[in-house]
Amino acid sequence: MSTTATFKVLGICGSLRQKSFNMAALKAAGELMPAGLKLEITGIGDLPMYNADIQEKGFPAVATRLREEILAADALLFASPENNWSVSACLKNAIDWMSRFQVQPFQNKPAAVFSATGGPVGGARGQYDLRRMLSGLGVVWLARPEVFIGNAASKFAEGKLTDETTRKFLTEQMLAFEDWIKRMKRAFG
Ligand SMILES: Cc1cc2nc3c(=O)[nH]c(=O)nc-3n(C[C@H](O)[C@H](O)[C@H](O)COP(=O)(O)O)c2cc1C
Repeated sequence: MSTTATFKVLGICGSLRQKSFNMAALKAAGELMPAGLKLEITGIGDLPMYNADIQEKGFPAVATRLREEILAADALLFASPENNWSVSACLKNAIDWMSRFQVQPFQNKPAAVFSATGGPVGGARGQYDLRRMLSGLGVVWLARPEVFIGNAASKFAEGKLTDETTRKFLTEQMLAFEDWIKRMKRAFG
């Protein structure tokens, strides 16, 4: 594989809020990525709440669409808020749906995560829960650098990530992510 190959990164945001800091940070990460990565952001807000009765009648088209997007992506980038010390309900719901596919799409998928919260901790507890649950489904995580964006209200303005230090952290994470994707592609194809 040539060093200039562009890897398709699927962005998944765990907040549905229109003025979400996590979505703003995800868009910033897309701009700060090295040339070898290209971000496409998907939506998870239209998935119904997981219910085995719905699944029995057939997977909803939105779940099948998300699975296909994950399968087609070289890697996944999660922007995760922290709700009550854990993963947001919509993100957990999306993971529950994906986990029910027999050939499920997370297996051996390289992924990175950052989190943004209003409080000072920056979502560490939610981020580690996300890492734990997706490790169980076969995701291969970029371990470092970790990025926690605390006190988010002071770091964004008009829907943009304006804090230079945070932009630098994200830039460094995206560089490491590119290297990680290359390594995982060599390992798993
Ligand atoms: C239901 C709920 C639970 C929350 N729980 C936490 C929490 O456990 N830790 C935290 O730092 N912030 C918590 N927050 C505050 C969020 O960090 C804050 O609303 C943040 O802006 C959400 O991310 P977003 O801007 O991407 O929507 C919570 C917010 C909501 C609505």
